[in-house]
Amino acid sequence: MTMGIITVGQFLLLLMACNAHVAVGSFNGSQSDRISLLEFKKAISDDPQRVFMSWNDSIHFCSWEGVLCRLKNLHRVTSLDLGGRGLVGTISPSLGNLTFLKYLFLPNNGFIGEIPPSLGHLPRIQYLCLSNNTLQGQTPDFANCSSLKKLWLDGNHFVGQMPILLDNMPTRLQYLQISRNNLTGTIPPCIGNFTTLAWLYATYNQIHGEIPSQIGNLPVLQVFEVMRNKLSGKFQLAILNLSSIVDLRLSSNYLNGELPSSLGSSFPNLQFISLYHNLFNGHIPSSLANASKLIMVDLSDNNFTGVVPSSIGKLEELWGLNLEINQLHARSKQDWDFMYSLTNCTKLWGLSLADNQLEGQIPDSLGNLSMGLQMLYLGINRISGSIPTGIANLRSLNYLALGGNHLTGAILEQLGNLENLRQILLPNNNFTGHIPSSLSNSTQLIYLTMYNNQLDGNIPPSLGKLKVLQVIDFSYNKLHGRIPKEIFNIPTIEIVDFSFNSLDGPLPPEIGNAKQLEYLYLSSNNLSGAIPDMIGNCESLLELKLDQNFLIGSISFQHP
Ligand SMILES: *[C@@H]1O[C@H](CO)[C@@H](O)[C@H](O)[C@H]1NC(C)=O
Ligand SMILES: *[C@@H]1O[C@H](CO)[C@@H](O)[C@H](O)[C@H]1NC(C)=O
Ligand SMILES: *[C@@H]1O[C@H](CO)[C@@H](O)[C@H](O)[C@H]1NC(C)=O
Ligand SMILES: *[C@@H]1O[C@H](CO)[C@@H](O)[C@H](O)[C@H]1NC(C)=O
Ligand SMILES: *[C@@H]1O[C@H](CO)[C@@H](O)[C@H](O)[C@H]1NC(C)=O
Ligand SMILES: *[C@@H]1O[C@H](CO)[C@@H](O)[C@H](O)[C@H]1NC(C)=O
Ligand SMILES: *[C@@H]1O[C@H](CO)[C@@H](O)[C@H](O)[C@H]1NC(C)=O
Ligand SMILES: *[C@@H]1O[C@H](CO)[C@@H](O)[C@H](O)[C@H]1NC(C)=O
Ligand SMILES: *[C@@H]1O[C@H](CO)[C@@H](O)[C@H](O)[C@H]1NC(C)=O
Ligand SMILES: *[C@@H]1O[C@H](CO)[C@@H](O)[C@H](O)[C@H]1NC(C)=O
Ligand SMILES: *[C@@H]1O[C@H](CO)[C@@H](O)[C@H](O)[C@H]1NC(C)=O
Ligand SMILES: *[C@@H]1O[C@H](CO)[C@@H](O)[C@H](O)[C@H]1NC(C)=O
Repeated sequence: MTMGIITVGQFLLLLMACNAHVAVGSFNGSQSDRISLLEFKKAISDDPQRVFMSWNDSIHFCSWEGVLCRLKNLHRVTSLDLGGRGLVGTISPSLGNLTFLKYLFLPNNGFIGEIPPSLGHLPRIQYLCLSNNTLQGQTPDFANCSSLKKLWLDGNHFVGQMPILLDNMPTRLQYLQISRNNLTGTIPPCIGNFTTLAWLYATYNQIHGEIPSQIGNLPVLQVFEVMRNKLSGKFQLAILNLSSIVDLRLSSNYLNGELPSSLGSSFPNLQFISLYHNLFNGHIPSSLANASKLIMVDLSDNNFTGVVPSSIGKLEELWGLNLEINQLHARSKQDWDFMYSLTNCTKLWGLSLADNQLEGQIPDSLGNLSMGLQMLYLGINRISGSIPTGIANLRSLNYLALGGNHLTGAILEQLGNLENLRQILLPNNNFTGHIPSSLSNSTQLIYLTMYNNQLDGNIPPSLGKLKVLQVIDFSYNKLHGRIPKEIFNIPTIEIVDFSFNSLDGPLPPEIGNAKQLEYLYLSSNNLSGAIPDMIGNCESLLELKLDQNFLIGSISFQHP
């Protein structure tokens, strides 16, 4: 014990001696770091969280908030981390003198002006994060930052060429995040020299031109996200070389032509592919089903033709399949085989084939889709026949949209068993029969639209049990009987459209209870009697249409 204490004491003494010795000498790196930090502080004009309160002479700068130094006795700053502190000001060029700095984290503040070029001289910097500030101008040349591994510059107002990728950039770069700026120019071919790059995010910029073939030289690239730019040209075949790719997002560009037929066979690790809102055409390659780790496939809003590949069910991990807004067809029963195939995708959460050219009946296999399916969009096609009763098996369904088809038959009673439904959109079809009162059991319903069908019978008063309903639209049907007063006791109701039916009887005074009601359309019915004064209590009402009825009286509104 005693020995130990003596040893520590001696060690301290030694340290002090050492310090004293150096102090006698001239200006050292540690002093320089302190001055650099103070210069940095000086350039901050607003510090709402009083971060810099601790930056005073009573404590060593290595203990200032956000500052870390080397563990050894050198007292050199290795880390400056002041993310999300509401700081406003410019970034002082003095930071370029922190030659031991490895981490510089200043994201989510209000830094303005340009990045000082001196930051491009930090020899040991490994992680540099300036995300989500209001920095502008061109980004500096980081060519001399030969240790740089991760660089975040997203969410600023940078302009110019994708400048960080100049020829002689350090090739240790693993992570580059430059999304949400105003960068222009093309993706430079020298990108192929960044062979350590695993993550490349450049979304929401103005980058144009073709994706260079050198992209195929990046053996460890896992994420390539360039959506919302102005990229053009065909699908770059060199992308097929990216066998490590997990996440490929090229959506919202001007890419065109056909997808390579071997697409899915090249990506053993691919989990996310997003090509929506481009100009692609041709068939969806059936090889897609060979990319066996796919979770999310979004090819929507292109010009794809042909059928949905029936191999798609091989994708055991598939969670989302979005093929809406294309020219896909299903003419024969066989063309619908994909539906049966999809029953193998037991993790399927969302399926959209809306706005295509599907014809014929929805196969009964629909009812065998994943129990976890929450979104089913098949609207705006040419589907006929009735809704398969098996749909009632899809207990998790939240969103059901089948509008704009040629569907016939009754609206299934069993829809009321789907207690998670939030939206039922069945307009513009040829449904007949009654509106099932069982729908009142889908108590999560927010949207219920069935306009422009051939429905008759009454509007079930039980719908008043839908306590979060906002929109109910049964216009252009053949409904008769009274308007149920219960609808207007729903506290959330905003839009009621029962126009162009054969409803009769008086207007219920309960309309005045609907404090959120904004649009009430009851035109072209057989409604009669006096207009209740209570309507004047609808303080949110923006539009009211009662014409083409037999109503009498007038309405006065209290509010302006
Ligand atoms: C210096 O910083 C310490 C630590 O935050 C603080 O307690 C002290 O009040 C500061 N001194 C002055 C003069 O601001
Ligand atoms: C640098 O100088 C300061 C005082 O001038 C001294 O406290 C410090 O120990 C010196 N650092 C080194 C590493 O010599
Ligand atoms: C960096 O340090 C040098 C001296 O070491 C000094 O002359 C220069 O002004 C400093 N630069 C900045 C931007 O603080
Ligand atoms: C920057 O903001 C985006 C969008 O708000 C956010 O997703 C991202 O995590 C933020 N970046 C950092 C480093 O906090
Ligand atoms: C990189 O360092 C070299 C040698 O110190 C220097 O000549 C060159 O100008 C520096 N480049 C940049 C972009 O700072
Ligand atoms: C990009 O530039 C346009 C036009 O100059 C401007 O309206 C927009 O706000 C800029 N966006 C960003 C993120 O800087
Ligand atoms: C890639 O790097 C090599 C050597 O570092 C260089 O000669 C070549 O020009 C670079 N390629 C591109 C496309 O920039
Ligand atoms: C594919 O990658 C290999 C090595 O990773 C490379 O040698 C080759 O040039 C690349 N081909 C294309 C077309 O990018
Ligand atoms: C989509 O393809 C059809 C025929 O296949 C063609 O007539 C149409 O012009 C294409 N649309 C676009 C936007 O390319
Ligand atoms: C669906 O799974 C079964 C059993 O695992 C398999 O035999 C069948 O080929 C699969 N169908 C598709 C389209 O993947
Ligand atoms: C509904 O049926 C009528 C009569 O068969 C037909 O004229 C009309 O086009 C159909 N409407 C829809 C949307 O299928
Ligand atoms: C609503 O559900 C309850 C119990 O789940 C059931 O008894 C009742 O018949 C259902 N109502 C309608 C109108 O289907």
